[in-house]
Amino acid sequence: MRRPLVMGNWKMNGSHAANAQWLEGFRIPEAAVVDVAIAAPAPYLAVLSERFQRAGIALAAQDVSDQLANGAFTGQCSGAMLKDVGCEYAIVGHSERREYQAESDALVAAKTKAALAAGVTPVVCVGETLTEREQEQTFAVVARQLAAVIEAVEDVSEIVVAYEPVWAIGTGKTATPEQAQAVHAAIREQLGSAGSRVSVLYGGSVKSANADELFKQPDIDGALVGGAALDSVEFSKICESAISHLA
Ligand code: PGA
Repeated sequence: MRRPLVMGNWKMNGSHAANAQWLEGFRIPEAAVVDVAIAAPAPYLAVLSERFQRAGIALAAQDVSDQLANGAFTGQCSGAMLKDVGCEYAIVGHSERREYQAESDALVAAKTKAALAAGVTPVVCVGETLTEREQEQTFAVVARQLAAVIEAVEDVSEIVVAYEPVWAIGTGKTATPEQAQAVHAAIREQLGSAGSRVSVLYGGSVKSANADELFKQPDIDGALVGGAALDSVEFSKICESAISHLA
């Protein structure tokens, strides 16, 4: 469903102590009409499940296996396991996994399918590299990545899409609101009739200082936040900005 969503991605950061401290600083108005989620590292998911629930934060995983059944898949977590420990969402196809784990469009599509089969909402990341943008390949790359997913799943309205230009991730360079809006509009169009029911998030150096401008764009339904989500006060501010512009 097209609902405003702000998801923090902690990536490979955190510890029991740091996570507890993070929760102390997190404040958003109660009964918020914006969904808030944190994608925590796998070892902390089960522990954080209840604490997040009390704080009004949905639990998300940073990845999911493409395998449906339990078995000999060392190091992987199935969608069913993620669901079992309370995950509502799983990030799929983050550019860091596409790059460092060589995840292909086909694997990302299979993971998206596996998450859906387990009742976990996949947050499918798409986005171009700097070279691809400079070569004016942005729309073609994003369309190719999304097409693989659209082809694989039965009901594409059940996914969330995150547009994350790779050159804007962790670099301090944000796409301008206009650049982001143009890609978001193209994504929504490619989703066809499901487009009006899918949340499309923007990710890439989102912080409280630029969140307002991004959230004012008609096709931006929220954010996937990396670095700025490690500071719960800063992350709360981004959530507040989403509440004032998207709710
Ligand atoms: P960033 O990361 O906010 O640190 O750029 C975003 C992401 O990778 O999801």
